[in-house]
Amino acid sequence: MSEVNRQWILKDRPTDLVGPEHFEWKEGEVPEPGDGEVLIRTLYFSFDPTQRGWLHTEASYVPPVQIGEPMRAGAIGQVVKSKNPEFSEGDYIQGTLSWQDYVVTDGSGPFPLQKLSTDYPLTYNMSVFGLTSLTAYFGLLEVGEMKEGDVVLISGAAGATGSAAGQIAKNKGAKQIVGIAGGAEKCKWLVEEGGFDAAIDYKSDDIAAKIAELCPEGVDVYFDNVGGPSLDAALLNLAMGARVVVCGGISSGYSGWAVPEGPKNYMQLILKAAKMEGFLVLNYMDKLPQAIADLGAWHQAGTFKVPEHLVEGLEHAPETLQGLFTGKNIGKAILKVTDSNV
Ligand SMILES: NC(=O)c1ccc[n+]([C@@H]2O[C@H](COP(=O)([O-])OP(=O)(O)OC[C@H]3O[C@@H](n4cnc5c(N)ncnc54)[C@H](OP(=O)(O)O)[C@@H]3O)[C@@H](O)[C@H]2O)c1
Repeated sequence: MSEVNRQWILKDRPTDLVGPEHFEWKEGEVPEPGDGEVLIRTLYFSFDPTQRGWLHTEASYVPPVQIGEPMRAGAIGQVVKSKNPEFSEGDYIQGTLSWQDYVVTDGSGPFPLQKLSTDYPLTYNMSVFGLTSLTAYFGLLEVGEMKEGDVVLISGAAGATGSAAGQIAKNKGAKQIVGIAGGAEKCKWLVEEGGFDAAIDYKSDDIAAKIAELCPEGVDVYFDNVGGPSLDAALLNLAMGARVVVCGGISSGYSGWAVPEGPKNYMQLILKAAKMEGFLVLNYMDKLPQAIADLGAWHQAGTFKVPEHLVEGLEHAPETLQGLFTGKNIGKAILKVTDSNV
């Protein structure tokens, strides 16, 4: 066990792009668990755009991270000391912890600690079976009501949620799956490895013209991770009865709640008798067993893979978070805390 507890503390609230300048590196003593608590050694951190929202002063679905606190993050870890009867030393767990080597918690809160199976690699709990795969699953199938033969368009397509959504669409028999992503390298990846039929580079293509060219009969389901110009372009190309799934709006940078102006082309929803609906993945947890069964079966069959964008070393946490907003990742962004074997 490391003798010191390395931490990234929130120093300043970002007003625009989050980066290393907003955090301070500290080293301190390893804390001791009290009655009902466990001491966890962190192993992996998940990087999620929603973390940017936790840096606002306003509460969202969770309270803001306070200045002086370690940065909150989804994590996988191992219990090293337990004074809580529900957890034993050695248990692998997943929960919402913070950017430090060691965390003391009683395991409760909005995202209670969960014990993990060791039947598959630990990181699968963030990638293959992670929240982003579940978001893609429920967003596409429950909100988007995707059915066999649909034309599916996905933005943020090379990211964790988008790449999962593309493969779920394929497994469910979509007629055509088109991805929107930033840059030639990601577009090449989408078609050659991600299972998409075609790709649109929002940084260099005329997005609306390209959707019209690729999907002449219109888009049945648009799974939107980004908002902004891609959303407007998709709205111009809907099929009759289309469903627009509002999963995220990362093109806003999530730098404030007073986010950009809404879509200009929303009248298309009337003309195409379409619907546009936002959702929170956490509201679908009653359907978790079916989702895990489907994702697991597709993974076993080799038709559902989530690439892991793995960064090594706690020291790189702030820049890895920033990388979500500058497009550094293909697939799920994960940080391995130390160079241990687990
Ligand atoms: N509704 C829910 O319950 C729920 C749950 C989880 C996640 N989400 C949302 O799902 C979306 C994807 O999340 P994720 O965790 O899977 O992240 P991710 O897609 O793995 O990573 C973020 C990606 O966003 C893209 N991006 C960054 N700035 C952009 C911009 N200005 N315009 C267009 N694309 C931009 C980047 O790809 P490029 O290189 O292609 O730009 C980057 O790789 C986010 O909007 C997130 O908030 C929603």
